[in-house]
Amino acid sequence: MTRFDPSGPLRGALRPPADKSISHRAALIAAMGEGTTSVRGYLDAADTRSTLAAVEALGARVESADGLGTLLHVEGVGLRGAGPATIDVGNAGTLLRLLPGWLAGQAGECWVLDGDDSIRARPVDRIAAPLREMGARLAAREDRLPPLEVIGAELHGVTYELPVASAQVKSCILFAGLLADGETRIVEPEPTRDHSERMLRAAGADVRREGDAVTIRSAERLEPGAIVVPADISSAAFFIVAAALVAGSEVVLEGVGVNPTRTGILTILERMGVEVEVEPRGAQRGGEPVADLRVRPAALRGTEVGGAEIPLAIDELPLVALAACFAEGTTTIRDAEELRRKESDRVETVTAALSALGGRVEATPDGMAIEGTGGLRGGTISSHGDHRIAMLGAVAGLASSAGVEVEGMDAAAVSYPGFEADLASLASG
Ligand code: S3P
Repeated sequence: MTRFDPSGPLRGALRPPADKSISHRAALIAAMGEGTTSVRGYLDAADTRSTLAAVEALGARVESADGLGTLLHVEGVGLRGAGPATIDVGNAGTLLRLLPGWLAGQAGECWVLDGDDSIRARPVDRIAAPLREMGARLAAREDRLPPLEVIGAELHGVTYELPVASAQVKSCILFAGLLADGETRIVEPEPTRDHSERMLRAAGADVRREGDAVTIRSAERLEPGAIVVPADISSAAFFIVAAALVAGSEVVLEGVGVNPTRTGILTILERMGVEVEVEPRGAQRGGEPVADLRVRPAALRGTEVGGAEIPLAIDELPLVALAACFAEGTTTIRDAEELRRKESDRVETVTAALSALGGRVEATPDGMAIEGTGGLRGGTISSHGDHRIAMLGAVAGLASSAGVEVEGMDAAAVSYPGFEADLASLASG
């Protein structure tokens, strides 16, 4: 049990850890590449260590060039050179969904992907369906859950309309498209994070966006060269909301990725009354925009969140619900049924956590309704092994009137191993 007491003002500047989504893609695309790719600022956390172990199992060589694990040299196996392996994805849903796209088109080899208990409850039929249309051979438990077996086959390009907005599924199909005959076209119901498109384009792939569709053509080789990973806005979001809620705070988050497909949390908080100052730092290689973010507390009001905004803030919706407890008026989150398929069923785990702390939160089939009461009392919550729920509890504790005990705080290490130390540094700043 880890206790988080009500806090005095949070003050200071820090660089949150590297972006998890971009780190997964960097390791995978470097492994697909020719020669050596340098990856600067790779996330050193449980999820992204699973991805490094995976690419090593496939034959890539990974070397820590700075001895700290944040500057990596990855010697790729090439687009068609992955060796057979059994892959433990750990808790990493992104690895589970992205990697099969690359493997599916390599005829003559076979792979198995499996992971922890939470992974075993996460659907893979969403990638199996489009990959099969492309000619892939896959087998899953009950045809929809891991372990997932991938038997390499010859693939052909298709047009696939995504039934749900998912960057993981889109990225999986893009990877498969690199090895498929002709052109592969993916139509998105709503725009989702486009890190894969940016990184593949920078590595020389023919990737194009036309309206709501992304097309990719088969490639002979990728040359990523050098990749720089910005700090993760999804990790920064915990401090953004903490600084918005704790009186007298002023916090600067440095070097944060502000790709517009990830900044939904900023737009939502702005509507709720929080002004986050965005000081751009220019684009890094691979085309990811970066900025410093400065946050101060504000009087919050309720808002409506739904539609196209959901994919742009999907991992930050638990924090929106937390902020909503402190707001005046009601906040509704709709069209977010996907929240139920994350590391935990986040509609249920967020509702349970915030209710246990005195919040008035109601779960709905596709989201939550939160009645703001201006604050939270405090109490005890369980992370349910979900990193974002653990960190949510910590932030709630700082802003609560009586403190919060979090059971299972260790889950934070999935994306943010130094979270508690960073939070403490701001609290004593
Ligand atoms: C991710 C996409 C999102 C997100 C996840 C990371 C990615 O999942 O929730 O944390 O890196 O592509 P979905 O694609 O399932 O929406």
